[in-house]
This record gives sequence, C-alpha cells and structure tokens, in this order.
Amino acid sequence: MALAPDTAAVLPRHVAIIMDRNGRWARKRLLPREAGHVAGVSAVREVVRAATDIKLEYLTLFAFSSENWKRPKPEVNALMGLFRGYFRSDLDELHARGVRVRIIGSRERVASDIHRMIEEAESRTVSNTGLNLTFAFDYGGQEEIANAARELARAAKEGRLDPETITPELFATRLFTGGLPEPDLVVRTGGERRLSNFLLWQSSYAELLFVDTLWPDFGRKDLLAALENFAQRERQFGAISEAVA
Ligand code: IPE
Ligand code: IPE
Ligand code: MG
Repeated sequence: MALAPDTAAVLPRHVAIIMDRNGRWARKRLLPREAGHVAGVSAVREVVRAATDIKLEYLTLFAFSSENWKRPKPEVNALMGLFRGYFRSDLDELHARGVRVRIIGSRERVASDIHRMIEEAESRTVSNTGLNLTFAFDYGGQEEIANAARELARAAKEGRLDPETITPELFATRLFTGGLPEPDLVVRTGGERRLSNFLLWQSSYAELLFVDTLWPDFGRKDLLAALENFAQRERQFGAISEAVA
C-alpha cells in the first residue's frame, strides 16, 4: 500500500503517537501484559520503517509516561527492559536508515545505564538527516511545562532574563521538545479519547485522531490511513478559510 498522490502532497511534518492498549491486546489473548508490550515493540519497528520509507520528517512516540511509574514494579521493569532491548537491537538499523534519535522526558528517575544508552543513541545519530524519531520516555507534559517555568523564573531571579521578554516562542525553547516543530497530527491508538499528559503545550493546534486499533496491531497501513485522514482535514489556526474570506 502506497500513499495516494494527494495525501503525499499534504503530509504532516510531524506525527506524534500515543501508543496505547498493549495490555488489552495481551488480555484478549489470555497473555500477560508484558507480552503486549513485546508485541508493541514490533509495532514500533514497523511504523518507524514505514515512516522512513515515506520520508516523514518527524515522528514522536509516547513510550512511557511520568505517571506509568505507578504501575506494578514487574511491569515497569519489563518496560525498562524492552526499552533497553530496543536500542540494543535496533540502533544500528536506525542509524543506517539515517534516523536521528532523541528522547524527551525527565532523565532523573531512569536507571543510569538507560541514561547512558539514551546519550549514546542521541550522540551517535546526531548528524543524521533522515527521520527525526523522538521517544517520549518518562515524559509528562505538565512536568515539562513546570520545568520550563522554573528555569525561566530562575533566570529572571538571577537577573539573566527580563520577564517582559517571555513569549510563547521563548517558552517553547525551554521545553524538552525545544528545536522540534509542533506536531501536526496526534494519533492515539486503542480507543481512549484523551491525551494522558502528552505534548500539552505543543499540541495546541494539532489535529487529533483517535483510532480503535490496539497499538500492537497498528502497522504501516494504519499509519498511511492516519495520513490520509489528516490530508482531508482543513486547518485554520484561528483564521477563516480563503473560500469564506
Ligand atoms: C501502552 O499500553 C504502553 C504503555 C503505556 C507503556 P498499556 O500498557 O497502557 O495498555 P492498556 O492501555 O492497559 O491496555
Ligand atoms: C499513555 O497511556 C502513556 C503511553 C502511551 C506511554 P496510559 O495507558 O498510561 O494512559 P491512561 O492511564 O490510560 O490515561
Ligand atoms: Mg493504556
């Protein structure tokens, strides 16, 4: 399945995905939740390959939220293990495909070996000019906004910043996503219709798409369908369409 020409013409620059319902996928098969997460990694692989094939510029995947620490320890450990395993097994391929890897989130709570792995993945791929692949890992939107506010407040207190110069553009540079364009399309799989603290600031004008497909079942054709859905949308950014004007 390839992209229709009219879809290719209006490809979103940045697609962000809330990869949800691995647990449900496993339960339907009478498997432990961890098996759903394992299948979820395969879906990541397929979607990343598809994104590089169609030359998407930015793909951001919500892999672990700042609230996911509340889950039972064995599940958290399984998710950490899968994150490690993914970078061990896939970093070579990502690099070969010209993917630039970034990880956004608070790095304070993750184990030191994961911290090092993140730094290695980012530094090894820093000069790549293909897909910008970002994992939101230990990421929470409110925490991100509070961190940015704290940093600006500290700079003002120390006399390094005039509070009057704080604009949305300046504020955005202090977010974990500083330097990344805002998402044009945010997809959530699994049927829930909420953002769960994902890219709250950055999604101000994103198109939202909620699909029922459980994340482990989401693949290339689902990504293409999401892009086709996006291509049908009319984005006005608060203005009115030219036809009306
Ligand atoms: C998404 O699947 C993966 C993570 C949040 C880490 P879930 O683990 O949330 O699966 P459900 O939503 O409970 O089915
Ligand atoms: C959101 O899914 C986080 C990720 C996809 C990593 P959750 O399953 O944690 O969200 P809630 O709890 O249903 O809102
Ligand atoms: Mg969930």
